[in-house]
Amino acid sequence: MNNKAIGIFDSGVGGLSCVKELLHCLPGENIKYLGDTLRMPYGVKTIAQLHTCAKDNVAFLQRRDVKLIAAACGTVSSNVPKEHLDNLSVPFVDVINPTVRAALKATKNKRIGIIATPATVKSNSMGRRLKELDSDVEIISVGCTDFVPLIESGHIDDDIIRASARGYLAQIQEFGVDTLILGCTHYPIIAKVIGEIMGSCVALIDSGRETAIGIKMTLEKLELLNGRSEGGTAEFFVTNNTEAFDSVAKVFLGEDAHIKSILKGIEE
Ligand code: DGL
Repeated sequence: MNNKAIGIFDSGVGGLSCVKELLHCLPGENIKYLGDTLRMPYGVKTIAQLHTCAKDNVAFLQRRDVKLIAAACGTVSSNVPKEHLDNLSVPFVDVINPTVRAALKATKNKRIGIIATPATVKSNSMGRRLKELDSDVEIISVGCTDFVPLIESGHIDDDIIRASARGYLAQIQEFGVDTLILGCTHYPIIAKVIGEIMGSCVALIDSGRETAIGIKMTLEKLELLNGRSEGGTAEFFVTNNTEAFDSVAKVFLGEDAHIKSILKGIEE
């Protein structure tokens, strides 16, 4: 049993797709969330820049004495191996394994699409892992450069995001997938739009949700849950642009979210 909080980071609002599921499946746990909005988007950064961001985020959360850290970020998970986080001293969960396993469970025709940031697609982290686990799967990956900036500016259910999504998804529809990995944790925020375009026969795999399930399983295995079934708190820290984060967070998490505070920038 451990009463410390769970630490989660992403470049911005994306990791809220993980928080949303955590609020549901571990309602008694406390959460400390860092959105690195100052350096967002991560998906067009170099590997060296991503290493710096990941290490800074880990350091920030560890200063807040968390019991586990999750990179609720497909881009960091794909480009910064855990072994390279030399300042990490708590258990670590990333996006790749839980997400890929959920996709393999969902697919029947073994044709899987991946949409993610350019840096995630370039790394081929998810495609490689899918093939390792099932060499028969056929995969199509598309980098969606515009999604994160659009989502961060509040375009989550309008004509602008719809037009952008239609463009990215056309080739995936042609490929005949029955399962689509939303490989960037921002994308579940626009799952409604993506689902309308892909149709109800295509299973959408929410990388944020799957990461939350990965966190739960890790805490259970390591006996680090706090044992409470309600009353958890969530604290949100951002490095910049508090207002935009606040409004997307409210729309996405809804009024039910027991948000304790949205802090204006990080203090160090
Ligand atoms: N939500 C993150 C991901 O899963 C970061 C996206 C970005 O900042 O480009 O990849």
